Amino acid sequence: MVYNMNDKGHLKIGGVDVVELASTYGTPLFVYDVNKIKENARNFVGTFKDLGVQAQVAYASKAFSSIAMLQVAKDEGLSLDVVSQGELHTALEAEFPPERIHLHGNNKSIPELEMAIEHQIGCVVLDNFWEMELLQGLLAERDASMDVLLRVTPGIEAHTHDYILTGQEDSKFGFDLWNGQAEEAVKYLLQDQHHMNLKGLHCHIGSQIFETDGFIMAIRKLYEALGSWKETYGFYPEVLNLGGGFGIKYTESDEPLPLSHYVHQLVKEVKEQVEHYGFDLPEIWIEPGRAIVGDAGVTLYTIGSIKEIPKVRTYVAVDGGMTDNLRPALYSAKYEAVVANKLNQEKIKTVSIAGKCCESGDMLIWDIDVPEVESGDLLATFSTGAYGYSMSNHYNRFPKSAVVFVENGFHQLVIKRESYQEMTRLDLPYTPPDGI
Ligand code: LLP
Repeated sequence: MVYNMNDKGHLKIGGVDVVELASTYGTPLFVYDVNKIKENARNFVGTFKDLGVQAQVAYASKAFSSIAMLQVAKDEGLSLDVVSQGELHTALEAEFPPERIHLHGNNKSIPELEMAIEHQIGCVVLDNFWEMELLQGLLAERDASMDVLLRVTPGIEAHTHDYILTGQEDSKFGFDLWNGQAEEAVKYLLQDQHHMNLKGLHCHIGSQIFETDGFIMAIRKLYEALGSWKETYGFYPEVLNLGGGFGIKYTESDEPLPLSHYVHQLVKEVKEQVEHYGFDLPEIWIEPGRAIVGDAGVTLYTIGSIKEIPKVRTYVAVDGGMTDNLRPALYSAKYEAVVANKLNQEKIKTVSIAGKCCESGDMLIWDIDVPEVESGDLLATFSTGAYGYSMSNHYNRFPKSAVVFVENGFHQLVIKRESYQEMTRLDLPYTPPDGI
Protein backbone atom coordinates (compact mmCIF):
# COMPACT_ATOMS: atom_id res chain seq x y z
CA MET A 1 0.00 0.00 0.00
CA VAL A 2 1.17 3.48 -0.74
CA TYR A 3 0.91 5.77 2.26
CA ASN A 4 2.41 8.93 3.73
CA MET A 5 4.57 9.08 6.82
CA ASN A 6 5.71 12.11 8.82
CA ASP A 7 9.09 12.56 10.48
CA LYS A 8 7.82 10.92 13.67
CA GLY A 9 7.16 7.72 11.75
CA HIS A 10 3.40 8.26 11.98
CA LEU A 11 0.88 7.58 9.25
CA LYS A 12 -0.57 10.71 7.67
CA ILE A 13 -3.92 10.83 5.92
CA GLY A 14 -5.07 13.93 4.11
CA GLY A 15 -2.12 15.75 5.62
CA VAL A 16 -3.13 14.84 9.19
CA ASP A 17 -1.16 12.70 11.67
CA VAL A 18 -3.42 9.77 12.60
CA VAL A 19 -2.01 9.69 16.13
CA GLU A 20 -3.51 13.14 16.58
CA LEU A 21 -6.83 11.92 15.14
CA ALA A 22 -6.92 8.93 17.49
CA SER A 23 -6.21 11.09 20.53
CA THR A 24 -8.79 13.69 19.46
CA TYR A 25 -11.64 11.37 18.49
CA GLY A 26 -10.79 8.01 20.09
CA THR A 27 -10.78 4.60 18.40
CA PRO A 28 -12.09 2.69 16.52
CA LEU A 29 -12.24 5.56 14.10
CA PHE A 30 -13.11 5.67 10.41
CA VAL A 31 -11.01 8.29 8.63
CA TYR A 32 -11.91 9.40 5.10
CA ASP A 33 -9.57 11.34 2.84
CA VAL A 34 -12.02 13.67 1.10
CA ASN A 35 -9.58 14.40 -1.70
CA LYS A 36 -9.48 10.71 -2.54
CA ILE A 37 -13.29 10.52 -2.67
CA LYS A 38 -13.29 13.51 -5.02
CA GLU A 39 -10.50 12.07 -7.16
CA ASN A 40 -12.42 8.80 -7.60
CA ALA A 41 -15.65 10.63 -8.43
CA ARG A 42 -13.86 12.87 -10.92
CA ASN A 43 -12.23 9.89 -12.59
CA PHE A 44 -15.64 8.49 -13.46
CA VAL A 45 -17.39 11.76 -14.26
CA GLY A 46 -14.41 13.20 -16.14
CA THR A 47 -13.93 10.13 -18.31
CA PHE A 48 -17.53 10.24 -19.52
CA LYS A 49 -17.10 13.95 -20.17
CA ASP A 50 -13.87 13.39 -22.11
CA LEU A 51 -15.65 10.79 -24.22
CA GLY A 52 -18.49 13.22 -24.85
CA VAL A 53 -21.04 10.68 -23.64
CA GLN A 54 -24.24 11.69 -21.82
CA ALA A 55 -23.96 9.97 -18.48
CA GLN A 56 -24.91 9.88 -14.84
CA VAL A 57 -22.52 8.49 -12.23
CA ALA A 58 -24.75 7.49 -9.33
CA TYR A 59 -22.93 6.90 -6.07
CA ALA A 60 -24.24 3.67 -4.53
CA SER A 61 -24.81 5.02 -1.07
CA LYS A 62 -25.04 1.56 0.50
CA ALA A 63 -21.22 1.63 0.48
CA PHE A 64 -21.23 4.49 2.98
CA SER A 65 -24.14 6.79 3.59
CA SER A 66 -23.96 9.81 5.85
CA ILE A 67 -25.04 13.40 5.47
CA ALA A 68 -21.46 14.63 5.02
CA MET A 69 -20.67 11.94 2.46
CA LEU A 70 -23.77 12.72 0.43
CA GLN A 71 -22.90 16.41 0.50
CA VAL A 72 -19.56 15.59 -1.07
CA ALA A 73 -21.26 13.35 -3.64
CA LYS A 74 -23.75 16.11 -4.44
CA ASP A 75 -20.99 18.71 -4.85
CA GLU A 76 -19.11 16.38 -7.18
CA GLY A 77 -22.17 16.27 -9.44
CA LEU A 78 -22.84 12.61 -8.74
CA SER A 79 -26.32 11.11 -8.80
CA LEU A 80 -27.34 8.76 -6.02
CA ASP A 81 -28.45 5.16 -5.73
CA VAL A 82 -30.52 4.54 -2.60
CA VAL A 83 -31.91 1.20 -1.66
CA SER A 84 -34.12 1.92 1.32
CA GLN A 85 -36.19 4.58 2.99
CA GLY A 86 -33.31 5.13 5.41
CA GLU A 87 -30.87 5.85 2.60
CA LEU A 88 -33.45 8.08 0.91
CA HIS A 89 -34.08 9.91 4.17
CA THR A 90 -30.33 10.50 4.60
CA ALA A 91 -30.13 11.83 1.04
CA LEU A 92 -32.98 14.25 1.62
CA GLU A 93 -31.42 15.39 4.90
CA ALA A 94 -28.22 16.07 2.97
CA GLU A 95 -30.36 18.13 0.56
CA PHE A 96 -29.39 15.89 -2.30
CA PRO A 97 -31.33 16.97 -5.41
CA PRO A 98 -34.25 14.49 -5.57
CA GLU A 99 -34.21 14.42 -9.35
CA ARG A 100 -30.75 12.81 -9.20
CA ILE A 101 -31.84 10.03 -6.82
CA HIS A 102 -32.60 6.50 -8.03
CA LEU A 103 -34.47 4.08 -5.78
CA HIS A 104 -33.46 0.42 -5.81
CA GLY A 105 -34.54 -2.61 -3.82
CA ASN A 106 -35.91 -6.10 -4.38
CA ASN A 107 -38.73 -5.64 -1.87
CA LYS A 108 -39.66 -1.98 -1.81
CA SER A 109 -42.31 -1.14 0.74
CA ILE A 110 -45.36 1.04 0.20
CA PRO A 111 -43.90 3.82 2.43
CA GLU A 112 -40.66 3.69 0.42
CA LEU A 113 -42.50 4.05 -2.87
CA GLU A 114 -44.75 6.75 -1.43
CA MET A 115 -41.71 8.70 -0.26
CA ALA A 116 -40.16 8.38 -3.72
CA ILE A 117 -43.36 9.70 -5.33
CA GLU A 118 -43.83 12.48 -2.78
CA HIS A 119 -40.29 13.78 -3.29
CA GLN A 120 -40.38 13.28 -7.05
CA ILE A 121 -37.09 11.44 -7.17
CA GLY A 122 -35.35 10.81 -10.49
CA CYS A 123 -36.46 7.24 -11.00
CA VAL A 124 -37.47 3.97 -9.43
CA VAL A 125 -35.55 0.92 -10.58
CA LEU A 126 -38.24 -1.74 -10.86
CA ASP A 127 -37.16 -5.11 -9.59
CA ASN A 128 -40.20 -7.41 -9.86
CA PHE A 129 -43.83 -7.72 -11.00
CA TRP A 130 -45.27 -7.28 -7.51
CA GLU A 131 -43.57 -3.94 -7.10
CA MET A 132 -44.46 -2.85 -10.62
CA GLU A 133 -48.16 -3.25 -9.87
CA LEU A 134 -47.76 -1.66 -6.46
CA LEU A 135 -46.12 1.43 -7.92
CA GLN A 136 -48.64 1.59 -10.75
CA GLY A 137 -51.46 1.63 -8.17
CA LEU A 138 -49.84 4.26 -5.97
CA LEU A 139 -49.18 6.53 -8.96
CA ALA A 140 -52.69 6.07 -10.31
CA GLU A 141 -54.24 6.99 -6.93
CA ARG A 142 -52.34 10.28 -7.06
CA ASP A 143 -52.54 10.74 -10.80
CA ALA A 144 -48.76 11.09 -10.63
CA SER A 145 -46.03 9.81 -12.90
CA MET A 146 -42.57 8.40 -12.37
CA ASP A 147 -39.66 7.49 -14.60
CA VAL A 148 -38.72 3.86 -14.14
CA LEU A 149 -35.82 1.68 -15.16
CA LEU A 150 -36.32 -2.04 -15.49
CA ARG A 151 -33.71 -4.05 -13.66
CA VAL A 152 -32.88 -7.06 -15.76
CA THR A 153 -30.85 -10.08 -14.76
CA PRO A 154 -28.74 -11.00 -17.75
CA GLY A 155 -27.53 -14.40 -16.56
CA ILE A 156 -23.88 -13.46 -16.16
CA GLU A 157 -21.56 -14.94 -13.58
CA ALA A 158 -18.94 -12.34 -12.70
CA HIS A 159 -15.78 -13.55 -10.98
CA THR A 160 -16.24 -12.55 -7.39
CA HIS A 161 -17.44 -13.90 -4.05
CA ASP A 162 -20.71 -15.89 -4.29
CA TYR A 163 -22.60 -13.63 -1.91
CA ILE A 164 -21.89 -10.51 -3.95
CA LEU A 165 -22.87 -11.99 -7.29
CA THR A 166 -26.13 -10.57 -8.54
CA GLY A 167 -26.40 -10.92 -12.30
CA GLN A 168 -26.40 -14.74 -12.48
CA GLU A 169 -29.45 -16.76 -13.47
CA ASP A 170 -30.42 -17.88 -9.97
CA SER A 171 -30.74 -14.44 -8.38
CA LYS A 172 -33.29 -12.73 -6.16
CA PHE A 173 -32.82 -9.51 -8.14
CA GLY A 174 -34.48 -8.23 -11.26
CA PHE A 175 -36.47 -9.51 -14.21
CA ASP A 176 -34.80 -12.44 -15.93
CA LEU A 177 -33.70 -11.77 -19.45
CA TRP A 178 -33.45 -15.37 -20.62
CA ASN A 179 -36.86 -16.69 -19.57
CA GLY A 180 -39.13 -13.97 -20.90
CA GLN A 181 -39.80 -12.16 -17.59
CA ALA A 182 -38.04 -9.00 -18.71
CA GLU A 183 -39.91 -8.94 -22.01
CA GLU A 184 -43.23 -9.44 -20.23
CA ALA A 185 -42.42 -6.47 -18.00
CA VAL A 186 -41.51 -4.29 -20.98
CA LYS A 187 -44.79 -5.22 -22.63
CA TYR A 188 -46.72 -4.37 -19.47
CA LEU A 189 -45.00 -1.01 -19.08
CA LEU A 190 -45.45 -0.02 -22.71
CA GLN A 191 -49.22 -0.55 -22.49
CA ASP A 192 -49.63 2.42 -20.21
CA GLN A 193 -46.88 5.01 -20.11
CA HIS A 194 -49.11 7.51 -18.35
CA HIS A 195 -48.00 6.69 -14.80
CA MET A 196 -44.80 4.73 -15.24
CA ASN A 197 -42.52 5.99 -17.97
CA LEU A 198 -40.09 3.27 -19.04
CA LYS A 199 -36.94 5.34 -19.33
CA GLY A 200 -34.45 2.55 -19.54
CA LEU A 201 -32.89 -0.69 -18.44
CA HIS A 202 -30.67 -1.45 -15.50
CA CYS A 203 -28.30 -4.30 -14.91
CA HIS A 204 -25.78 -4.95 -12.13
CA ILE A 205 -23.65 -8.06 -12.43
CA GLY A 206 -21.84 -8.11 -9.09
CA SER A 207 -19.26 -6.43 -6.94
CA GLN A 208 -15.47 -6.15 -6.60
CA ILE A 209 -15.00 -7.12 -10.25
CA PHE A 210 -11.53 -6.79 -11.74
CA GLU A 211 -12.29 -7.69 -15.33
CA THR A 212 -14.42 -6.03 -17.94
CA ASP A 213 -15.53 -9.30 -19.64
CA GLY A 214 -18.62 -9.64 -17.43
CA PHE A 215 -19.78 -6.11 -18.22
CA ILE A 216 -19.18 -6.65 -21.91
CA MET A 217 -21.12 -9.91 -21.93
CA ALA A 218 -23.97 -8.21 -20.10
CA ILE A 219 -24.07 -5.36 -22.63
CA ARG A 220 -24.19 -7.87 -25.48
CA LYS A 221 -27.06 -9.75 -23.85
CA LEU A 222 -28.92 -6.50 -23.27
CA TYR A 223 -28.54 -5.53 -26.91
CA GLU A 224 -29.67 -8.95 -28.12
CA ALA A 225 -32.90 -8.33 -26.22
CA LEU A 226 -33.10 -4.70 -27.30
CA GLY A 227 -32.71 -5.70 -30.93
CA SER A 228 -35.79 -7.86 -30.69
CA TRP A 229 -37.81 -5.47 -28.50
CA LYS A 230 -37.20 -2.63 -30.94
CA GLU A 231 -38.54 -4.76 -33.73
CA THR A 232 -41.51 -6.12 -31.80
CA TYR A 233 -42.55 -3.15 -29.68
CA GLY A 234 -40.65 -0.22 -31.16
CA PHE A 235 -39.05 0.21 -27.74
CA TYR A 236 -35.53 1.50 -27.30
CA PRO A 237 -34.30 2.89 -23.97
CA GLU A 238 -33.24 6.44 -23.32
CA VAL A 239 -30.94 5.19 -20.54
CA LEU A 240 -28.79 2.14 -20.00
CA ASN A 241 -27.68 1.76 -16.38
CA LEU A 242 -24.83 -0.72 -16.20
CA GLY A 243 -24.62 -0.86 -12.40
CA GLY A 244 -21.56 -0.74 -10.19
CA GLY A 245 -19.11 -3.35 -8.99
CA PHE A 246 -15.77 -1.91 -10.10
CA GLY A 247 -13.03 -3.56 -8.05
CA ILE A 248 -10.58 -1.78 -5.77
CA LYS A 249 -7.26 -2.61 -4.16
CA TYR A 250 -7.50 -4.18 -0.72
CA THR A 251 -4.16 -5.98 -0.70
CA GLU A 252 -0.95 -5.97 -2.71
CA SER A 253 -2.15 -8.92 -4.77
CA ASP A 254 -5.24 -7.04 -5.97
CA GLU A 255 -4.72 -5.45 -9.35
CA PRO A 256 -7.73 -3.30 -10.14
CA LEU A 257 -8.08 -1.59 -13.48
CA PRO A 258 -7.90 2.20 -13.51
CA LEU A 259 -11.46 3.51 -13.03
CA SER A 260 -11.33 5.31 -16.37
CA HIS A 261 -10.58 1.98 -18.06
CA TYR A 262 -13.94 0.52 -16.99
CA VAL A 263 -15.71 3.57 -18.40
CA HIS A 264 -13.77 3.37 -21.68
CA GLN A 265 -14.58 -0.32 -22.09
CA LEU A 266 -18.27 0.06 -21.25
CA VAL A 267 -18.70 2.99 -23.61
CA LYS A 268 -16.73 1.23 -26.36
CA GLU A 269 -18.92 -1.87 -26.15
CA VAL A 270 -22.19 0.09 -26.07
CA LYS A 271 -21.00 2.09 -29.10
CA GLU A 272 -20.18 -1.12 -30.97
CA GLN A 273 -23.59 -2.58 -30.21
CA VAL A 274 -25.34 0.63 -31.18
CA GLU A 275 -23.50 0.65 -34.47
CA HIS A 276 -24.24 -3.00 -35.09
CA TYR A 277 -27.98 -2.57 -34.56
CA GLY A 278 -28.18 0.91 -36.05
CA PHE A 279 -29.56 2.40 -32.81
CA ASP A 280 -28.88 5.72 -31.09
CA LEU A 281 -26.40 5.91 -28.24
CA PRO A 282 -28.41 5.91 -25.00
CA GLU A 283 -27.40 7.86 -21.90
CA ILE A 284 -25.07 5.60 -19.95
CA TRP A 285 -25.47 5.45 -16.19
CA ILE A 286 -23.26 3.61 -13.74
CA GLU A 287 -23.54 3.23 -9.98
CA PRO A 288 -20.21 2.67 -8.26
CA GLY A 289 -20.11 2.54 -4.48
CA ARG A 290 -16.89 0.83 -3.43
CA ALA A 291 -14.81 2.48 -6.17
CA ILE A 292 -15.79 5.94 -4.89
CA VAL A 293 -15.21 5.50 -1.16
CA GLY A 294 -13.39 2.19 -0.60
CA ASP A 295 -9.77 3.29 -0.84
CA ALA A 296 -10.57 6.70 0.67
CA GLY A 297 -11.22 5.15 4.09
CA VAL A 298 -8.88 3.88 6.78
CA THR A 299 -9.87 2.48 10.17
CA LEU A 300 -7.80 3.27 13.24
CA TYR A 301 -7.78 0.90 16.18
CA THR A 302 -5.93 0.82 19.47
CA ILE A 303 -4.07 -2.36 20.20
CA GLY A 304 -4.97 -3.93 23.55
CA SER A 305 -4.24 -7.50 24.56
CA ILE A 306 -1.50 -9.56 22.96
CA LYS A 307 -1.60 -13.32 23.33
CA GLU A 308 1.43 -15.34 22.30
CA ILE A 309 1.11 -19.05 21.72
CA PRO A 310 4.74 -20.10 21.34
CA LYS A 311 5.50 -21.68 17.95
CA VAL A 312 1.85 -21.26 16.93
CA ARG A 313 0.66 -17.68 16.64
CA THR A 314 0.53 -14.26 18.24
CA TYR A 315 -2.93 -12.75 18.51
CA VAL A 316 -2.89 -8.96 18.63
CA ALA A 317 -6.34 -7.72 19.62
CA VAL A 318 -7.78 -4.35 18.68
CA ASP A 319 -10.69 -2.39 20.13
CA GLY A 320 -13.03 -3.09 17.18
CA GLY A 321 -13.51 -5.99 14.77
CA MET A 322 -16.54 -7.55 13.12
CA THR A 323 -18.73 -4.82 14.56
CA ASP A 324 -17.06 -2.14 12.40
CA ASN A 325 -15.76 -4.43 9.64
CA LEU A 326 -17.91 -7.44 8.97
CA ARG A 327 -16.25 -8.22 5.63
CA PRO A 328 -13.49 -10.60 6.85
CA ALA A 329 -16.04 -12.67 8.80
CA LEU A 330 -18.67 -12.53 6.06
CA TYR A 331 -16.64 -12.90 2.88
CA SER A 332 -13.18 -13.92 4.15
CA ALA A 333 -12.15 -10.51 2.84
CA LYS A 334 -8.46 -9.67 3.12
CA TYR A 335 -7.03 -6.39 4.36
CA GLU A 336 -3.65 -4.81 4.89
CA ALA A 337 -2.67 -2.85 7.94
CA VAL A 338 0.24 -1.01 9.51
CA VAL A 339 1.17 -0.09 13.04
CA ALA A 340 0.45 3.55 12.38
CA ASN A 341 2.67 5.04 15.08
CA LYS A 342 5.68 2.88 14.15
CA LEU A 343 5.99 3.17 10.39
CA ASN A 344 9.71 3.85 10.69
CA GLN A 345 10.38 0.64 12.60
CA GLU A 346 11.47 -2.57 11.03
CA LYS A 347 8.90 -5.35 10.73
CA ILE A 348 10.24 -8.20 12.82
CA LYS A 349 7.37 -10.57 13.47
CA THR A 350 4.23 -12.07 12.02
CA VAL A 351 1.02 -11.71 14.02
CA SER A 352 -2.72 -12.02 13.47
CA ILE A 353 -5.12 -9.19 14.22
CA ALA A 354 -8.13 -10.17 16.31
CA GLY A 355 -11.29 -8.21 16.98
CA LYS A 356 -12.79 -8.01 20.43
CA CYS A 357 -16.09 -9.78 19.81
CA CYS A 358 -16.85 -12.96 21.64
CA GLU A 359 -16.38 -15.14 18.60
CA SER A 360 -13.33 -16.98 17.22
CA GLY A 361 -14.24 -15.90 13.69
CA ASP A 362 -13.79 -12.27 14.63
CA MET A 363 -10.37 -11.96 13.03
CA LEU A 364 -9.52 -8.93 10.91
CA ILE A 365 -6.23 -10.11 9.41
CA TRP A 366 -4.34 -13.40 9.55
CA ASP A 367 -0.54 -13.34 9.38
CA ILE A 368 0.68 -9.83 8.95
CA ASP A 369 4.23 -8.58 9.45
CA VAL A 370 4.63 -5.87 12.08
CA PRO A 371 7.33 -4.21 14.17
CA GLU A 372 7.53 -4.93 17.92
CA VAL A 373 3.96 -4.17 19.02
CA GLU A 374 2.65 -3.28 22.44
CA SER A 375 -0.65 -2.31 23.98
CA GLY A 376 -1.52 1.28 23.15
CA ASP A 377 -0.06 1.15 19.64
CA LEU A 378 -2.30 2.27 16.82
CA LEU A 379 -3.29 -0.08 14.02
CA ALA A 380 -4.55 1.29 10.71
CA THR A 381 -6.37 -0.97 8.24
CA PHE A 382 -6.57 0.29 4.67
CA SER A 383 -9.41 0.41 2.15
CA THR A 384 -12.18 0.24 4.72
CA GLY A 385 -14.21 3.09 3.27
CA ALA A 386 -16.86 0.90 1.62
CA TYR A 387 -19.19 -1.47 3.48
CA GLY A 388 -17.36 -0.86 6.76
CA TYR A 389 -19.34 1.74 8.66
CA SER A 390 -22.41 0.94 6.57
CA MET A 391 -22.41 -2.71 7.66
CA SER A 392 -21.36 -1.98 11.24
CA ASN A 393 -23.52 -3.44 13.92
CA HIS A 394 -24.15 -3.63 17.64
CA TYR A 395 -22.98 -7.20 18.22
CA ASN A 396 -21.88 -7.62 21.82
CA ARG A 397 -23.42 -4.19 22.31
CA PHE A 398 -20.48 -2.26 20.98
CA PRO A 399 -21.53 1.29 20.12
CA LYS A 400 -20.98 2.52 16.55
CA SER A 401 -17.60 4.11 15.82
CA ALA A 402 -17.04 7.73 14.91
CA VAL A 403 -16.24 8.95 11.40
CA VAL A 404 -13.92 11.81 10.59
CA PHE A 405 -13.23 13.55 7.27
CA VAL A 406 -9.75 14.89 6.54
CA GLU A 407 -8.72 17.19 3.72
CA ASN A 408 -5.50 19.13 3.17
CA GLY A 409 -4.43 19.04 6.80
CA PHE A 410 -7.91 19.79 8.15
CA HIS A 411 -10.07 17.31 10.09
CA GLN A 412 -13.71 17.29 11.06
CA LEU A 413 -16.01 14.87 12.84
CA VAL A 414 -18.88 13.87 10.53
CA ILE A 415 -20.47 11.04 12.53
CA LYS A 416 -20.25 11.15 16.30
CA ARG A 417 -19.23 8.12 18.29
CA GLU A 418 -22.32 6.50 19.71
CA SER A 419 -22.61 6.64 23.49
CA TYR A 420 -23.89 3.72 25.58
CA GLN A 421 -27.01 5.75 26.37
CA GLU A 422 -27.62 6.32 22.66
CA MET A 423 -27.18 2.64 22.01
CA THR A 424 -29.82 1.65 24.54
CA ARG A 425 -32.15 4.57 23.79
CA LEU A 426 -34.77 2.38 22.17
CA ASP A 427 -34.77 -0.27 24.90
CA LEU A 428 -37.77 -0.31 27.21
CA PRO A 429 -38.00 -2.04 30.57
CA TYR A 430 -40.25 -5.05 30.82
CA THR A 431 -43.10 -4.76 33.30
CA PRO A 432 -44.58 -8.20 33.86
CA PRO A 433 -48.36 -8.31 34.13
CA ASP A 434 -49.78 -8.39 37.66
CA GLY A 435 -49.90 -11.75 39.31
CA ILE A 436 -46.74 -13.23 37.74
N1 LLP B 1 -25.75 -1.15 -7.84
C1 LLP B 1 -26.42 -2.20 -7.35
C2 LLP B 1 -27.72 -2.54 -7.88
C3 LLP B 1 -25.86 -2.94 -6.30
O1 LLP B 1 -26.51 -3.99 -5.82
C4 LLP B 1 -24.59 -2.58 -5.79
C5 LLP B 1 -24.01 -3.33 -4.70
C6 LLP B 1 -23.94 -1.47 -6.33
C7 LLP B 1 -24.55 -0.78 -7.38
C8 LLP B 1 -22.62 -0.99 -5.86
O2 LLP B 1 -21.64 -1.96 -5.98
P1 LLP B 1 -20.11 -1.54 -5.72
O3 LLP B 1 -19.72 -0.58 -6.81
O4 LLP B 1 -20.03 -0.92 -4.39
O5 LLP B 1 -19.37 -2.82 -5.77
N2 LLP B 1 -21.45 -5.70 1.11
C9 LLP B 1 -20.64 -6.22 0.02
C10 LLP B 1 -21.02 -5.67 -1.29
C11 LLP B 1 -22.47 -5.85 -1.61
C12 LLP B 1 -22.83 -4.98 -2.71
C13 LLP B 1 -24.27 -4.99 -2.96
N3 LLP B 1 -24.65 -4.23 -4.08
C14 LLP B 1 -19.17 -6.00 0.33
O6 LLP B 1 -18.85 -5.60 1.42
O7 LLP B 1 -18.32 -6.30 -0.51
